[in-house]
Amino acid sequence: MGDLEATRLAGKVALITGASHGLGRALAIAFAREGAALALCARRAPALDEVASAVARLGADVLAVQADMRSARDLARLVAVTLDRFHRVDILVNNASELGPTPLPYLADYPPAAFDDVLQVNVTAPFRLTQALIGGMLLRNHGVVINVTSDAAITGYPGWGAYAVSKAALEGLTRTWIAELAGTGVRMYAVDPGDMDTDMHRAAMPDADPCELARPDDVARAFIQLVASPEPAPVGQRVEAAAFGR
Ligand SMILES: NC(=O)c1ccc[n+]([C@@H]2O[C@H](COP(=O)([O-])OP(=O)(O)OC[C@H]3O[C@@H](n4cnc5c(N)ncnc54)[C@H](OP(=O)(O)O)[C@@H]3O)[C@@H](O)[C@H]2O)c1
Repeated sequence: MGDLEATRLAGKVALITGASHGLGRALAIAFAREGAALALCARRAPALDEVASAVARLGADVLAVQADMRSARDLARLVAVTLDRFHRVDILVNNASELGPTPLPYLADYPPAAFDDVLQVNVTAPFRLTQALIGGMLLRNHGVVINVTSDAAITGYPGWGAYAVSKAALEGLTRTWIAELAGTGVRMYAVDPGDMDTDMHRAAMPDADPCELARPDDVARAFIQLVASPEPAPVGQRVEAAAFGR
């Protein structure tokens, strides 16, 4: 572990979805460095197993679960095996996300089945996972849920179709949970990581200059700050990672 600060999440259990690539991978490594135990999931096993091995080498207790966020059965299994192994989840990061078809089609041409897929991964899965885990958090009077959002939630970019709709819905979901959690020790945030150099960004905007994009490792530091800070960002706000201690 190395530096003195690196135990801010010791004793905490974090579940991170979409942990095999991009921001999810960076979060898994950053959370492991801070001493958290980790449940990680994604669809493709090889990359997920590589991340699990990397965080295990950092000393983390880690569980890797192959799961598709579109499948209610996979979500139930993910929750069951995580609770069986760790008995609780203190931090849930709903990070996994589906961009939709590329090149990004206009709504007039958007395939309806793809629209449904995007909403299932980006809205329904975070709802189901939160619903499955929030009871334990409320019983313990603490817990943090982070829903990873995007500026597409608040700006009508042409072509961002179902993804934009899904992130707007995810922010609405977050606001409602926050109102319903008032007075409990459970915190929830919608965090916008900003433009990052990841597979998703390359798929959406292949001509973007990577030098102008944030590195997921740097963005992950802002997430750690938010989760571990004794003076967290005010609950109820949409949080931009760039404005929060990167
Ligand atoms: N990159 C950006 O510039 C940017 C900007 C704003 C917001 N965001 C948000 O940041 C988060 C991370 O994005 P990223 O750029 O790191 O994406 P990414 O590089 O494409 O990684 C996405 C991760 O989610 C997993 N995933 C995708 N669909 C899944 C499914 N159906 N079930 C389970 N896992 C699934 C992927 O693994 P498998 O494919 O193996 O399942 C992968 O591990 C997302 O919520 C995204 O909307 C990104």
